[in-house]
Amino acid sequence: MKIYTEKTYEAISSRAASILKAQLVLKTNSVLGLATGTSPIGTYDKLVEDYRSGEISFKDVRTVNLDEYVGLEDTDPNSYHYFMDAHLFSKIDIEKENTHVLSGTASDPEKECRSYERMIRSIGGIDMQLLGLGRNGHIGFNEPDEAFTVDTHIVDLTENTIEANARLFNDISEVPKQALSMGIGTIMRAKRILLIAYGESKADALAKVIAGPVTPHVPGSILQLHPDVTIVCDEAALSKLK
Ligand code: GLP
Repeated sequence: MKIYTEKTYEAISSRAASILKAQLVLKTNSVLGLATGTSPIGTYDKLVEDYRSGEISFKDVRTVNLDEYVGLEDTDPNSYHYFMDAHLFSKIDIEKENTHVLSGTASDPEKECRSYERMIRSIGGIDMQLLGLGRNGHIGFNEPDEAFTVDTHIVDLTENTIEANARLFNDISEVPKQALSMGIGTIMRAKRILLIAYGESKADALAKVIAGPVTPHVPGSILQLHPDVTIVCDEAALSKLK
């Protein structure tokens, strides 16, 4: 694992964006795995700046997102479809048909998960996967469990995650109880992984991801087995690492 410790959220965002930018320079038709949450917003802002200044183009880029809430329409401001359009897709030259986000309103969610896996394989797999980190160590929406779930699947969200994500909804009762998420195998098959962790609320989880036992109780700990992981974080997020 390569770890960059930055002083501010702004510096984390610049560092992460510079790594994604290098990926796009090396391979203009990269398949990028994308994440939602507060952590990557600054990174997306930097990528938009780089696009506007002509340094990068997304014309040939394909994207696949990690996850989506069950039951939210694409137009719902809390859906990850809406998030991606608002923070990135509407601001760059990406072709709409090259962006892929799981459908939270699919009539057959199991089928949606299976076809998402097939789609990722059909476009050649993920070149670089961007990840945030849940306070309980989740990646995507792979929650702590007795076993790792390999492929894209339906998830029952934990109380911890529902509480953490409630800040973005009017009321905690509005937070969906389920989500669709890439599996641990889907994420681990990415050629490169870039994880962003900001702030003290991630410190416990990040220490376990980097140096704890590899266990499905801390889903992100599986990243210790991946050959190409870069972590971009701040000192607070790294403060529990002994
Ligand atoms: C959600 C998302 C994750 C994200 C996590 C952390 O649960 N499904 O992909 O990494 O939140 O979010 P934040 O970056 O806002 O702390």
